Formats: sequence, C-alpha cells, structure tokens
Amino acid sequence: MANPSLLILAGDGIGPEVMAEVKKIIGWFGAKRGVTFDVTEDLVGGCAYDKHGTPLHDDTMAKAQEVDAVLLGAVGGPQYDILDFSVKPERGLLRLRKEMDLYSNLRPAQCFDALADFSSLKKEVVAGLDIVIVRELTSGVYFGEPRGIFTEGNERVGINTQRYTESEIARVARSAFELARRRNNKVCSMEKANVMESGILWRQVVQEVHDKEYPDVQLSHMYADAGAMQLCRWPKQFDVIVTDNLFGDLLSDAAAMLTGSLGMLPSASLGAPMANGRPKALYEPVHGSAPDIAGQGKANPIACILSFAMALRYSFDMGDDATRVEKAVEKVLADGVRTADLMGPEGGKPVSTSQMGDAILAALD
Ligand code: NAI
Ligand code: MG
Repeated sequence: MANPSLLILAGDGIGPEVMAEVKKIIGWFGAKRGVTFDVTEDLVGGCAYDKHGTPLHDDTMAKAQEVDAVLLGAVGGPQYDILDFSVKPERGLLRLRKEMDLYSNLRPAQCFDALADFSSLKKEVVAGLDIVIVRELTSGVYFGEPRGIFTEGNERVGINTQRYTESEIARVARSAFELARRRNNKVCSMEKANVMESGILWRQVVQEVHDKEYPDVQLSHMYADAGAMQLCRWPKQFDVIVTDNLFGDLLSDAAAMLTGSLGMLPSASLGAPMANGRPKALYEPVHGSAPDIAGQGKANPIACILSFAMALRYSFDMGDDATRVEKAVEKVLADGVRTADLMGPEGGKPVSTSQMGDAILAALD
C-alpha cells in the first residue's frame, strides 16, 4: 500500500515554529515505527500572498484535494491587515474548507490532569474531562441567503438566514455517530427546536439517522442554551456533542476554555469519504499566528502536535499511535515541563518551543 500522504501548510507567525516540532514527531515515526509519511510542504496565508499574490495558490488547492490529510499551522498577521478582503490570509483557509467541503468540525476539550488547576472551574469539575464537540461547518446562518444590510422604509435592516437542508444535517449527524462509536457510544445533539424551525428539522433528522443507522448509540437532545449551562456546570456528563455552525462556534470556544490554554487545543475538519475510504481532512490548532510571540521560541507546540495525533486517529487508522502521542504530552506536562503560556502565577522557568517538542519526543520512546 502507498505511504500515507500529508500536505503541510505551516503558514504564518508561530505556524512554522510549532510545525517544526510536529516534523520531529513525523521523523520519529519513520525512524522508530517504520511508518513513512509522504510529506509535501507548501504555502498558505500571508506567506503565500507574499510569493504568489494569493493566500492559496491553485496548485496548493489541487494538492490538498489529493492527499490523505492536510496539516495547517496558522495564518495571518498585522502586516496583512491592509490587504483587500479577497486576498486576506484567512481567505486561504476558508477556500480550503469550502473546496474540500469540510462539513464536520471536531473540537476536543480534553483536560490533562497536570493542568486542571489552570481551568477557571473547580478541579473536580474538569479533571479527566474528555469530550468532543462536532460543529457543522459549511452551512447554517453564516452562509444562508438572503443576507445583507438593506433599507426598509427609513431605517436599515441587517439580515442573515439560518438554513439547513436535510442532507446537510444527516451527514454531520453521521459524522458524530461514527465518532461516538470510536469513543463511548454517546451523542447529545443541541439546537433550539423550541424557537427555530431549522432546529425542529435538525432534531428530527438527527433522530431519524440515529434510529435507522445508529440505534446502538445513545442519543439525547438538548436546547443549546441549556447545553451551554450544563457545559459549565458538569461537562463530564457529555461525550460527543453535535450542533450547528453558530451554536458550535460558541459552544466549542466555551468548552475549550474549560481546559486552559489556547496553546493546547487541536481541531479536525472532516468531509466526505474519498475513494480510499478516508475522509477529506484538514487538521489545525485552534489558535492563530500569535504575532505577539512569533519568532521568539515561546509558542506552545502542543496544539499542533495534538492536531497531528488527530490525523493519526481519524485519517490514518493509527489510533494506538495517536494515544501514544497524547500520553507523551500528558507525561511531559505531569513532569512539570511548561511553555510560558502554561505557567501559573507561581512562576518557574518556561521551556522554549523546541525544548517542549524535544521533551515530547523523548517521552514517545
Ligand atoms: P491568536 O490565537 O493568534 O493569539 C491569541 C493569544 O494567545 C495571543 O496572546 C497569543 O500569543 C496566544 N497564543 C496563541 N497560540 C499560542 C501558542 N501556541 N502558544 C502560546 N501562546 C499562544 O489570536 P489573535 O491574536 O486574535 O490573532 C492573531 C492573528 O492570527 C490574526 O491575524 C488572526 O487573523 C489570525 N488567526 C488565525 C487563525 C487560524 O489560522 N486558524 C485563527 C485565529 C486567528
Ligand atoms: Mg469562534
């Protein structure tokens, strides 16, 4: 069988810095586990604009469609703020998501015990937390028509439309149920069926897909506002949460902060299965290009490393290896190794980006 293929788009700011640590881990898999990835590297975001006048060259887009998985660092930076909207660094990322049709966004919120004190919640509420929010990513109110600012009579009116088709709901529901089968067989679907027709349809379709195709998975429904409360009150009651684009945006950000630093959060965006059965996939840390610390060796590479672990699990069927990477991160944190963003008020001496990468590498052995 062909080697698994990976397109690396390190991007801007701290993107290349954190990606350098992932490349060490990819090298480790080649040397120690005999797993060789066919890695191609290319540009996205501001660096692509600097070279090609566009944040994502057509050739890069074509490559992204061919590989088993794309791993992205981060895009953007203040030097690009003056650019026209159509060529802003973010547009490169949006084009990838759109043309690869990545409709299912997986955002894990996982609390490493060593960092439980970091949460704004009580330690017992977050210690051992391990949930995933599945956010619909390509439809809903961020895309629905009509949209715009119009004039009605003598005042302006701003309009956005929440719109979901049955098939759009069904495919993201399937993605959540598939994920649940790999985990603890439990899904909670969130909408506002009490006040939104799109929410009524959401609830119906999720239930139908469940009854027909995934009756073995335990399914519950919750209004998204109640879900927000429950996430803060007792997040461990959840395992997989599936929700629409807007609610998922808010709930995943809130859930993420239960566990501490932005430098720790990975994500996956998945689409339809390709000919080889693997889903179209883009993996990236949740954080941005962090221009305030770029070039200083301060960035925490863990979010990017955990994004690679998600690629191992969801694109390459290497779940045990993904767990091994996660355990290595856990061990390093338990040993007290901290980048600056993970330092508590008691202080201490932070390690650099590459020292953190090396510590994780050592823990992998
Ligand atoms: P940001 O995520 O880049 O940074 C927010 C804060 O968190 C900063 O203080 C930063 O130093 C810190 N931080 C982020 N990642 C870290 C890491 N790995 N280790 C340690 N500290 C970390 O968000 P911000 O400042 O709003 O945006 C900066 C640039 O990034 C902008 O150009 C923005 O458009 C872009 N951006 C790109 C994203 C992406 O590529 N997916 C997502 C969010 C923002
Ligand atoms: Mg958001």
